[in-house]
Amino acid sequence: MKADLIVLGIESSCDETSASILINGEIRSNRIATQDVHIKYGGVVPELASRAHQSNIVPVVDQALHEAGVRPYQLTAIAYTRGPGLLGALLVGASFAKAMALALNVPLIEVHHMHAHIHSLFIQDKKVSPLPFPFLCMTVSGGHTQLIKVKAPFVFDLLGETLDDAAGEAFDKIGKLMGLPYPAGPQIDALAKSGNSHAFVFPIPAVDGLNFSFSGLKTSLMNFLRRETEKNPNFIHENLADLCASVQHTIVKILTEKLKLAMKQESLNCFGIAGGVSANSYLRTTLQTIAMENGWNCTLPAREYTTDNAAMVAVTGYLSWHAQRIGNHANTADANLPFGFYPV
Ligand code: KG4
Ligand code: ZN
Repeated sequence: MKADLIVLGIESSCDETSASILINGEIRSNRIATQDVHIKYGGVVPELASRAHQSNIVPVVDQALHEAGVRPYQLTAIAYTRGPGLLGALLVGASFAKAMALALNVPLIEVHHMHAHIHSLFIQDKKVSPLPFPFLCMTVSGGHTQLIKVKAPFVFDLLGETLDDAAGEAFDKIGKLMGLPYPAGPQIDALAKSGNSHAFVFPIPAVDGLNFSFSGLKTSLMNFLRRETEKNPNFIHENLADLCASVQHTIVKILTEKLKLAMKQESLNCFGIAGGVSANSYLRTTLQTIAMENGWNCTLPAREYTTDNAAMVAVTGYLSWHAQRIGNHANTADANLPFGFYPV
């Protein structure tokens, strides 16, 4: 009888400590401990993130194993996020994964955080089910905004990326200007539902090719808010829903215009989005409309797999196992792990 292939995934690149168990290509648990400690600082404080990962990692892994009904000795391999991310945060997951792999004498698999976001698109009804290649993936998170042509599970062409802020960073920084707590993305999404997306018009940056830029939008909003609050100190409060809807509309327009351009330029007919911002409800409905209008296939990850989670890391681990991309105990966490890295 063939032995079960059981992968433990561990994610600790930013402010989410997560562990997941994947058995024979099926997600059996995906535990996520979110760190509320950063809210009062308006952004992630790296030192506090590392400390919170230290407190959370053992219980989170324990819960993931327990929920899946798996004992540690049954694990086939352990996959962990090696980078990119905050170094101190990554080190917690890397050290834990190395120690556990060593103790159990199982292979260690290194995962690139952005590969894992892309592979989150392969989770359909909790099962690993790769999309037909090639397809376009737009990864939109707090740290990245990229357009990637995915030719095979680990063959990627980076077509474009942001030249300054990431889309999620834009949501968070703009939210902060409007007095919203960190992370502002989900709040802007919720507030925008009762606002008018055409109430205020902000400029779309002219960036050549398939690259993005979001810093101009932030500056333009900052200047706009300064002018308006000088006239009416309650301007933000009185117009919050309209401001959120208009800003969200602008960010979504910047993203979707480039996505359409990439699809046409590369003659593709299938795309997906991944990363924290892919949870945005307006972006999701806009993309579904675009897909319908153009006859394209559109895949949106289940919300649970949009923001940082270990299920996507376990999926990359599972695909790595099949591709024999096994890691090395001598390798360390890498805050700037290159997108094209190969584990040696
Ligand atoms: O992928 P992720 O969890 O972490 C990184 O790898 O960066 O993404 C976090 C980002 C944050 O900037 C957060 O504001 C944004 O995703 N985000 C959203 C929504 N949910 C999370 N942005 C817009 N709308 C949302 N619903
Ligand atoms: Zn992420």
